[in-house]
Amino acid sequence: MSLHAASRATAAWHPTQFLSILDLTPSELESCLDLARSMKAARQARRAHATPLQGHHVALLFEKPSLRTRSTFQIAVRELGGEVIEPQSEVALGGRETIEDVARNLERWVFGAVIRTFAQDRLERFALSAPGLRVVNALTNEEHPCQALADCLTLIERLETIEGRTVAFVGDGNNVAVSLAQAVAMLGGHVIVASPSGFELPASVVESVTHVARLGGGVTVTSDPADAVASADAIYTDVWASMGQEGEAAERRAIFTPYQVNTALLAKAPAGTIFMHCLPAHRGEEVTDEVIDSPVSVVFDQSENRLHTQKALLALLAA
Ligand code: CP
Ligand code: NVA
Repeated sequence: MSLHAASRATAAWHPTQFLSILDLTPSELESCLDLARSMKAARQARRAHATPLQGHHVALLFEKPSLRTRSTFQIAVRELGGEVIEPQSEVALGGRETIEDVARNLERWVFGAVIRTFAQDRLERFALSAPGLRVVNALTNEEHPCQALADCLTLIERLETIEGRTVAFVGDGNNVAVSLAQAVAMLGGHVIVASPSGFELPASVVESVTHVARLGGGVTVTSDPADAVASADAIYTDVWASMGQEGEAAERRAIFTPYQVNTALLAKAPAGTIFMHCLPAHRGEEVTDEVIDSPVSVVFDQSENRLHTQKALLALLAA
């Protein structure tokens, strides 16, 4: 990263915790994405960059499985000069002692905590108990803001800008959809979420997005996937049963089948529409092999961009 890019981004940055996209102002979100682009270019050119986590430890506390988030945070911390610790899951978040006490212990040892848990409330309790810690949401039942950072960087790379663009999210109005809608609307894009009845984006989220949307951005909900993709620059989907909902998988499969992203649905979108998925994908359910393996799929760009955006986030939290 150039020193210029880093100091420009840092100057516009205030948060010490990242529990939600709504913790950022639009300009802080833009700063993070700008810095991520610059860090990505530096890494590709194998240029040395600043190591703001030198001498710092970051704890990774995960109550659910992860490939992308855990791996990219491990690499991000190390590339920024820091070290990770990974307390075992049975002692990490409230099994053996309260969440509050875990947080108060970690606050004495480490710079930050990256947490994947169930209810957002568990993350908030942790963050409230350790105000000195940089706390990052690595996915809760309700939100996945780190994913949205990578998704926005990918959208900007592919579509030049998010302002004025339309993203159709087809499927469950889940954690990934929530953070995506918040971030895209803050950057002036429009998100259309197509879901079956009972699985819509929560009304409270639609309401919150109206308060943060800028530049003509916003969110609308529909039950018709064909309607949603008709003007889409990007089509996004995610699993029908998220982690913790495995017991509902069969029931959800029946309900969500009309929402599969397949070649027939893609044919209803404008030419040039890209396909996005946070991964892991359940191939043959929410997306077919033909679509996820097609040239319009950018799913591995999204995965790569997890690293660059999280490096930028951690560098800004360390500033
Ligand atoms: N997209 C994502 O968060 O992947 P993991 O569950 O593997 O971390
Ligand atoms: N909605 C999914 C996202 C996984 C990255 C889940 O919560 O399991």
